Amino acid sequence: MTAPIRISVTGAAGNIGYALLFRLAAGDCYGKDQPIILQLLEIPPGMKALEGVVMELLDSAFPLLHGVEISDDPNKAFSGINQAFLVGSRPRTKDMNRADLISANGPIFTGQGRALNDNAADDLRVLVVGNPCNTNALIAAHSAPGIPKNRFHAMTRLDENRAKAQLAKKLGSLPGEVSNLGIWGNHSDTMYPDFAHAKVRGQAVTEQVGRDWLEGDFLKTVATRGKAIIEARGQSSAASAAAAAIDHMSTLWHGSASPSDAATFTSMGVWSDGQYGVPKGLIFSFPVTSGKGDYQIVEGLEHDDFARAKIAATTQELVNERETVKDLLA
Ligand code: NAD
Ligand code: LMR
Repeated sequence: MTAPIRISVTGAAGNIGYALLFRLAAGDCYGKDQPIILQLLEIPPGMKALEGVVMELLDSAFPLLHGVEISDDPNKAFSGINQAFLVGSRPRTKDMNRADLISANGPIFTGQGRALNDNAADDLRVLVVGNPCNTNALIAAHSAPGIPKNRFHAMTRLDENRAKAQLAKKLGSLPGEVSNLGIWGNHSDTMYPDFAHAKVRGQAVTEQVGRDWLEGDFLKTVATRGKAIIEARGQSSAASAAAAAIDHMSTLWHGSASPSDAATFTSMGVWSDGQYGVPKGLIFSFPVTSGKGDYQIVEGLEHDDFARAKIAATTQELVNERETVKDLLA
């Protein structure tokens, strides 16, 4: 039997946690032959609810779930972990932008970054879901000087999935028939879902639908989908966010296409080394391909003036966010 891997989920008693844990335990992320041990983190007021979630996890009798531990101490919850889903943080309400959460949520990621640095296993991979996720991932990466920066990721897979769903709906196809849809930049309204390189059933999207819709309704729907869900549900997206987190970490674990095959790239918020003129040291969503545990930013994509302006705007927003949290960047 394969040895279990240790997975930490923070904010495990929250909405996303409730959708995510059961899919992890069912083997939807790491495969049906990979046992897992869950190490769940909450803040003290969330511990009672977390005990109830653990009862339900046990009652599900998942064969792959070889253990569940809970704690309100990140040093314990991150002890020996291989994979981390940093979800725990405050969601926005409908009158807020995600960036408005920086002062409430940013400091969480200094302490958790340090705790990861001091306690996690050498092969750690981290996905930051809590908003504003790009800048929170940057804070965590800075707070963990002993962990390579390319291990800290921010989640933009939900934006990619949303974009694929909108294109599929428009063209009467299935989301699985949409490829090469890369999200550029920040998980915020400024993100650029790059329709210019996207394909549906192998054919360029721009040959199948007019640019007016792509530059207009499509972009707006994808960029503001989080807010639309909050307005409709009264709470931010949870099941689709959990699904995207599974997609991101599953792609990273199992690998996607070979680096030379740009036909099946996906989107990850990752450390910029200056690719495409994005300043070094931002956590920026790029199109990537993934080998097992690693990723490569897809190189050589050409952008027209429209795309360049969108990418410049989302880059500037991330530069501004980095400036706002500069005191948290060790
Ligand atoms: P929620 O309020 O339902 O749950 C958050 C949980 O985190 C709560 O149980 C809370 O007690 C816990 N928590 C708070 N501070 C913590 C800390 N320091 N350590 C551990 N746990 C802590 O919220 P949710 O709906 O699960 O959303 C969580 C976060 O994910 C929010 O910031 C939300 O904006 C973000 N989000 C991101 C995406 C994305 O695509 N990147 C998508 C959806 C939601
Ligand atoms: C989302 O995109 O659904 C999340 O980031 C939640 C939000 O605040 O929009």
